[in-house]
Amino acid sequence: MKKNLVLCGFMGSGKSTIGRQLSEKLGMRFIDTDSYIEQKEGMTISRIFEEKGEDYFRSLELEVCKELSQLKGSVISTGGGTLLKDTNVKEIKKGGVVFLLNVSSNTVLNRLKNDTTRPLLQREDKEKAVKTLLSQRIPLYNRAADYVIDAEESPRKVCIEIMNIYNSIS
Ligand code: S3P
Repeated sequence: MKKNLVLCGFMGSGKSTIGRQLSEKLGMRFIDTDSYIEQKEGMTISRIFEEKGEDYFRSLELEVCKELSQLKGSVISTGGGTLLKDTNVKEIKKGGVVFLLNVSSNTVLNRLKNDTTRPLLQREDKEKAVKTLLSQRIPLYNRAADYVIDAEESPRKVCIEIMNIYNSIS
């Protein structure tokens, strides 16, 4: 049975969009860890952050990584903070191969300028927050990744690149 195809990267890097398209093209199940957590908790990510705090949300992410590592042959898109922790990476890699979607801070800012669903970016100085967070996270994303993909390209091209690699290794 094939390994899971796991997408990681910053908010707005296209993990959910690309993940859904890949799952359709490859005929594999699609799981988005944020949606999975929202369903399990019965509330949105924003409300979880607001009512229970970020630490609680991060503990849910670890549980989800443990659960999803039991699966095979699924496309999994992770939250932008999920694979920053070695423990989570270790769990998810038990059953999956990790592709990093690389994007610039300008692309993120463009894509998320009207977004209200990411608690970490609901602030006046959004540009500074994106730039600071992204530069802190880039080395960690790279450490987690088995393959690094240029996600500035069109979703179609990004999907083709990922599928070519995934098919060649599984
Ligand atoms: C987060 C990214 C979000 C979501 C939460 C925290 C982060 O997911 O998990 O708001 O720390 O980068 P997306 O990357 O899907 O936006």
